[in-house]
Amino acid sequence: MKPLAIIGGTGISELEGLEVVGEHSVETPFGATSRPVQEGRWGDTTLYFLQRHGSPGAIPPHLINYRANIWALHSLGVSGVYAINTVGGITPEMQTGRLVFPDQVIDYTWGREHTYDDGASGSLMHIDFTEPYDRALRMALIEAAQVARIAHEPVAVHGVTQGPRLETAAEIQRMARDGCDIVGMTGMPEAALARELGLPFACICMVVNPAAGLDDLPLSVDTMREILTREAAVVRQLLTEVIRARPAS
Ligand code: HPA
Repeated sequence: MKPLAIIGGTGISELEGLEVVGEHSVETPFGATSRPVQEGRWGDTTLYFLQRHGSPGAIPPHLINYRANIWALHSLGVSGVYAINTVGGITPEMQTGRLVFPDQVIDYTWGREHTYDDGASGSLMHIDFTEPYDRALRMALIEAAQVARIAHEPVAVHGVTQGPRLETAAEIQRMARDGCDIVGMTGMPEAALARELGLPFACICMVVNPAAGLDDLPLSVDTMREILTREAAVVRQLLTEVIRARPAS
C-alpha cells in the first residue's frame, strides 16, 4: 500500500515517533513547500510528514503555500493525507481537549491561492466537493479512536477563517448560526486543492479553546499551547492505531 502523509499544524513541528530517513525538497510549479517533506518510518510503515507552518512554525495561515504543499505530497505518490488542525470549539460538544473529525467545511477565507485551475487547460475544474473529506480516511480515524478509546467527535462542520487574528464574538455567533461546530484558520484551501488532484484527504482537529466570546476568560495563546502539547500525544496515539490497522507498506 502506498504511504500516507501527515500535515502537521501549530504545536506539531515534528512528528515525535517518526524515525526520519530522508527529506524531499520537491520542486513545484507553485514554488517551495513550507519545509522539505520528511520521509520516515513509523513502526513498519513509511510515512511522509510536512509541517505547514514551516520550521520553527513561522508562516502564518494566510501566507502558507498550500498549492505547493499539496502538489508536493501528491507528486511523492502518497495514498492519502491526514491534516492536523488546531481549532476553537463553537458548539457545546466541541470541548477543549477533544479530537474532532469534521465531515463538512465552510470556507470564510479570502485572497488565498486556492485552486490549481489557472484557466489555461481549456477545461474548468468544477470539482465535486459535496463531501469535502474522504470517507474511508475519516472512517479509519473513527475506528482507530474507538479502538484506542480516544474521546472524539465523529462529525462536525469546520469553519475556516482568514486569520491571523482570532474572531470577534459576533463573528463566532454568525458562524454558529451558519452551522459551524469548530473554527480554525488552516483547513482551506488545503482540502479543496487535495480534491482537485484527486488526493484523499481528511482532518484531525484538536480543540484548544472555546471560540471567542464563549468563555469568560480572554483567549490565551499560552493556554492553547499547553492543551496542544497534551493533545499532540493523543494524536500520536491515534495515528499509531490508524497505521496499525492498515496493511504494511
Ligand atoms: N479560532 C481560529 N483558529 C483557531 C482557534 C480559534 O478560536 N483556536 C485555534 N485555532
